[in-house]
Order: sequence, then structure tokens, then C-alpha cells
Amino acid sequence: MVPLLFCLAACGDDDDAVRPVATATVPPSPTATATERPTATATERPTATPKPVDFVADVDDFECILSWDKVREFRITNRLGRLAEALELARNPRPGAQFPVGTIIQLFPGEAMVKRGPDFDPDNNNWEYFELDTSPAGTSIRVRGRDEVVNRFGGQCFGCHADARDFDFICEVGRGCVELPLSRDVFGALQEADPRCPD
Ligand code: HEC
Repeated sequence: MVPLLFCLAACGDDDDAVRPVATATVPPSPTATATERPTATATERPTATPKPVDFVADVDDFECILSWDKVREFRITNRLGRLAEALELARNPRPGAQFPVGTIIQLFPGEAMVKRGPDFDPDNNNWEYFELDTSPAGTSIRVRGRDEVVNRFGGQCFGCHADARDFDFICEVGRGCVELPLSRDVFGALQEADPRCPD
């Protein structure tokens, strides 16, 4: 009786003991793979790091907006030599396409959207919003960023422009943005009144 019980207990123990060992032999291959991956990624990263280009606008990047190309209602430029690419997309908007880094778009002299590098704010397609003060002497930056930037009517730039996410946050018409409390015929007149432009 005793040996039989002992044997049953021993057999059970053996089964239990075998399973963990068998299972334990499986992990080494994932572990081996896991040790290879970080090494491979780590060696790639240093080469990839210098690639993303950022563009941090300074006051000198803003000027009389009449000197920039006009596409429908807005004015557009690019400070990193990618104007042709920016103009092509502005003229032929496509869902999902994004403006190149260094693009500046303005509807009014006192507000701007500037395309930053890919790490700036991906959820906002890396746009930085600006409230500018303009005078014949030039431009000064009143507020820049995202959530803290509001227009003269108290509306948050990002809050409205996010409705046009599919078109890289460019609202224009028919893309779901809440309309501005201004008639569209005044946009051109407000651009003409940019105090930075020569008489
Ligand atoms: C109430 C919603 C609303 C707010 C707030 C708002 N915008 Fe806009 N914005 C629009 C709409 C709508 C247009 C398109 C106007 C048109 O072409 O009829 C527009 C146009 C623009 C354009 C021209 C490109 C485009 O998207 O059509 C720029 C640049 C722009 N806004 C920047 C800003 C900035 C910077 C702020 C904050 C300081 C801001 N906007 C706040 C709704 C808004």
C-alpha cells in the first residue's frame, strides 16, 4: 500500500516536474531573438538620428505675406527649399498627404501655421501655431505652440484645424472645420493691409 501510494505520488511529481522543464526549454529561442533585436536596432539608430530635420521659425522667417505665393485664399512659403513640393500639394490637396517641413501657411498677417519636424507633435501632424504682432518694423511672436494658441475671437487654432486632419489640418471649405466669424471676401483685404509690406 505504501509503495503504491509512494509510486503514484512520485509519478505525479515526475509529470509535474517534467512539464516546467519542457516549457522552460522553449523560452531560450525567444530570449536569443530578443537579445539580437536590440543590438541590431541600436546599431541602426545612430545613423538614423541625424535624418529628421526640424524647422524652428524665428521672427525673420515671417515677412510681408504678399511676397509669398497665394493658393486660393492662403499664402504659402517654405524655408527649407521645399517650396515646389509645398505648392504642388497646396494646389492639388490629397487626403493623407502632408506638407514638407519648413512650410509656413498664413491666411491673415497675424496668424501662422508652421510645419515642424516629425518628432514635434505627430498627433497634430507637427504643426506649430502662431499668433504674431505685425508692424512696419517687422514681426514679433506673441504666442507659439498648440493648445495655448487662440485667435482674436478666442478660438483655439488646433481645436478647429483638427477637424481637417485628413487634409493636413488645412481647413479651407467643406472639410468640417467650424467657420471663421468673417466673410471670406475680407481675407484678401486683410492680407493687403499687412503693415510689413512696402507701400
Ligand atoms: C473657429 C475655427 C477656427 C479657429 C479657432 C482658427 N481657425 Fe484657422 N481657419 C479656419 C477656417 C474655417 C479656415 C478656412 C477659411 C476659408 O478658406 O474659408 C481657416 C484658415 C486658416 C489658414 C489658411 C489655411 C487653411 O487652413 O485653410 C491658416 C494658416 C489658419 N487658419 C491658421 C490659424 C491659426 C494660426 C489659428 C489660431 C491663432 C486659427 N487658424 C484659428 C478655422 C479656424
